[in-house]
Amino acid sequence: SVQLHDGFVQCLASQNSSSISDIIYTPENSSYLSILQSSAQNLRSTSISSSEPAFILTPCVESQIQAAIYCAKKLGIQIRVRSGGHDYEGLSYISRIPFVLVDLRNLSSISVDTENYAAWVQAGATLGELYHRVAEKSRRLAVVGGTCHTVGVGGHFSGGGYSMMSRKFGMAVDHIIDAKIIDVNGQILDRKSMGEDLFWAIRGGGGASFGIIVAWKISLVSVPENVTIFNVTKTMDQNAIELVHKWQYIADKIDPNLAIRLEFNAVSSPQDGNRTIRASFVALFLGGVDDLLYLMQQSFREMGLVKEDCSEMSWIESTLFFALFPRDESIDVLLSRTPVYRLYFKGKSDFVRHPISVNGLKGMLERILEDDSTNAHRSLQFSPYGGRLSEILESATSFPHRGGNVYIIHYWAAWSREHNNAENTREMKWIRRLYKHMAPYVSKSPRAAYLNYRDLDLGVNNIDGITSYEKASIWGTKYFKQNFDRLMEVKTMVDPGDFFKNEQSIPPLSGGT
Ligand code: FDA
Repeated sequence: SVQLHDGFVQCLASQNSSSISDIIYTPENSSYLSILQSSAQNLRSTSISSSEPAFILTPCVESQIQAAIYCAKKLGIQIRVRSGGHDYEGLSYISRIPFVLVDLRNLSSISVDTENYAAWVQAGATLGELYHRVAEKSRRLAVVGGTCHTVGVGGHFSGGGYSMMSRKFGMAVDHIIDAKIIDVNGQILDRKSMGEDLFWAIRGGGGASFGIIVAWKISLVSVPENVTIFNVTKTMDQNAIELVHKWQYIADKIDPNLAIRLEFNAVSSPQDGNRTIRASFVALFLGGVDDLLYLMQQSFREMGLVKEDCSEMSWIESTLFFALFPRDESIDVLLSRTPVYRLYFKGKSDFVRHPISVNGLKGMLERILEDDSTNAHRSLQFSPYGGRLSEILESATSFPHRGGNVYIIHYWAAWSREHNNAENTREMKWIRRLYKHMAPYVSKSPRAAYLNYRDLDLGVNNIDGITSYEKASIWGTKYFKQNFDRLMEVKTMVDPGDFFKNEQSIPPLSGGT
């Protein structure tokens, strides 16, 4: 590895005039570990010690990325790219074979063009930074993107990007209007020079299979000066199941300005201390409280929403609410890149195309209490479809989950005790059992899954060999449905030697070289 290191450093130096010593870290460097761990969101992945990078590069300019690609290819070493580090399986920062980690934290500039409702954002910026920079220009401008402020735009935008505004405006990928990517030959390409096939592929197909995305140009959306939020909770003995059942019939049909998301957790009942399930109805309405109350009265009276449940605020303040910050938090907290929670976790996803019966819902939710432990946090989240999200064609971008879905389920198990194998085993078993149990209730052939909730249980490539179409399509058709074939064609065109590779990267049609 000393030889590899020296070879790599020499190669980089020969490629690049700007100083590289400031941007390269080996395990011997005192800051190597802190940089590696700083944005590693899932501790479950970092506990596999044999899979740490041989070096970390934190490029400040594009030419350093070009040099890294050139040298990694020359020395036969793999590259993993990390923007925000929120990959559910840690694919951006761990690998079982030797690799260089290209961490884009230093490429995070954002320039907002209010006149044209657009912004260029470098891939290493976080959603929080992007939201903040846009909102400081105008209270009426917003970005379509996810709820966690430390998520990176590099991974998030390339995998889809579900937002509380998706019913109104579609996914984050639907707002990408240009991009800059460095390909396997070290060429810097924009939309025009990469062509529409590659531009289509990186809007939903994940960036990691195709090159290193340096920046996105996105269109901004306009929102009212005040939006309204609420979080109404009901436990099982407060009729939660019936309400959830009804929610399934309105969530995707109600006015697209309103998204009501459901979250389920285990809590101790205030009455008897027994563990019970709590359903939280968490919502964003792009409008004022009076219009919201009228809408709810028309469509979801059963919930009994009252004015006191609701708060009006600016869109940027609502992002703090969805990122779970207290009400009095300053919006500057969005600029912090440090993940608020550091957890061991496993996530999975499903798409629901037909409302589930009351008994079906009961059977699912009761499982949250199965073999329950207060050391773990289990949650189910239902995010509504409908509106714009369901109108866009499945083939418009490579993100395929569109019309016909009522909601997406996110399953989650997290635990925080360090290296506790008992917890790890129990929670992994729990989430896999629940997933198996859910098969009759969710989408089939394929049983669809959302790439940004990456799940290696769905299937993996042969990481140090060729992966056949048959093998890759096991997981590939779940994430991409019929778009998977076109993604493989694009991959074959832009990276036939399969240099940009991971456990769930799109393989080229030839199966690699
Ligand atoms: P990370 O850096 O780990 O990258 C993810 C993948 O993209 C890896 O394969 C990586 O190699 C690749 N990649 C990253 N940058 C790249 C680049 N510049 N060029 C090429 N490839 C690149 N999703 C959602 O839709 N809505 C939501 O509200 C949330 N909320 C949320 C909360 C929390 C706490 C977590 C942990 C995750 C979410 N997500 C989410 C999921 C999130 O969208 C998903 O994990 C993204 O891929 C994360 O992008 P990062 O850049 O942070 O990840």
